Amino acid sequence: MENFVMYNPVKLHFGEGVTDKIGTITSEYGKKALLVLGKGSAKSSGAYDQVFSMLKKAGMEIFEYSGIKSNPVIEDVNKAAQLGKDNNINVIVALGGGSVIDSSKIISLAMKYDGPAWDIVTGKHNPTDATPLIAVLTLAATGTEMNPVAVIQDTCQQKKIGYGNKLMYPQHSFLDPTFTLSVPRNYTAYGVVDLIAHSLELWFGEGDASLSDRIIVSIIKEAMKHGPDLLENLEDYDLRARIMYAATLALNGLTGFGKKSGDWGVHEVGHCLSVVHDVPHGASLSIVYPAWLKLMKSRIPERIQELGTSLFEANNVDDTIYKLEYLFKVLGSPLKLSEIDIDLSDAAVKEKLLKVMILNKASGQAQKLSEDDYVKLLDLMA
Ligand code: NZQ
Ligand code: ZN
Repeated sequence: MENFVMYNPVKLHFGEGVTDKIGTITSEYGKKALLVLGKGSAKSSGAYDQVFSMLKKAGMEIFEYSGIKSNPVIEDVNKAAQLGKDNNINVIVALGGGSVIDSSKIISLAMKYDGPAWDIVTGKHNPTDATPLIAVLTLAATGTEMNPVAVIQDTCQQKKIGYGNKLMYPQHSFLDPTFTLSVPRNYTAYGVVDLIAHSLELWFGEGDASLSDRIIVSIIKEAMKHGPDLLENLEDYDLRARIMYAATLALNGLTGFGKKSGDWGVHEVGHCLSVVHDVPHGASLSIVYPAWLKLMKSRIPERIQELGTSLFEANNVDDTIYKLEYLFKVLGSPLKLSEIDIDLSDAAVKEKLLKVMILNKASGQAQKLSEDDYVKLLDLMA
């Protein structure tokens, strides 16, 4: 087992009605709030009205930046940070899914910097201060509500970067499962796939930590038990709550203590699919994971088998991969690029993806991927 430091300062408020306290809590950081939103779901679901009225009741002045896109882009971060600077904002309230919260994390740093936000995620500028951030989660998937990571894209450069900084932990995160009742079937499925994929990235990481492994297996089993039911009962509060809590634990540090690292190669390849074809994050993972496991089955058969035995009582490595694919299929998430109309028989399409994988150095930590591996992976995903 590796040495570790356990640190997570996020105050997480979980359950129905928790945002009733958001006004008083947010106003402790000052009276001017920048409310960051996605393309419209928070307004149509009613979450916006609930949060807005609580902030107003606490005497907050609210400035809005809306329109953050799924698979968020750095342009929005720069514009929102400028709005924050121009209005001497004291606190940011992010209301949305991972894309809104990730963007807000970088906005919180960019508001304290005079240059472009991309300098921060590329390490050209090292931030020392951040505007306080309050997160209100509306989609169970990424775990961003309780971690210090943000993932952002620069479309011109064809790069999607995961950036971590302790300054980006939200001060408070509000998780009301009723806010997720309106998430459509496809994004609900992608969220379940994402939490399973986070658990798997840690399972296949470096280091031997048996308790963390057992936690990983428990989280995936929770998703296996309740994910398919949720897909049939999208408005079931209790199932929404169970999946929401599982998604938070899948990437808040808990599954990695005692390990050196996760692998993250599947995520890095998935990000390339999102950069080139704007594939929803979870959908990219249900396509890349089975292909990655097929590539790895001769390299790490014991580790794949151990997973299969723990999760599915699988007979062998192939059976393990088959059962994971079956799970993703039951959830309704794609397994092949062809299912989302990406045609790799078109040489230009394949070439472009390969180029972006090389550019983004999508290698992973424990099982480093080579350029030959990229070609094999693409063939396995076709
Ligand atoms: O834009 P709006 O209108 O809000 O619609 C969103 C979007 O279309 C919609 N949605 C969100 N909450 C909803 C809702 N629709 C109805 N009802 C609600 N309550 O869902 C769509 C997807 O939203 P998005 O925020 O993009 O999804 P997700 O939470 O999966 O976030 C994906 C982003 O997070 C990054 C991904 O790379 C991707 O950019 N990740 C962040 C991580 C982190 N910070 O730790 C780790 C992850 O591995 C991941 O990489
Ligand atoms: Zn993910």
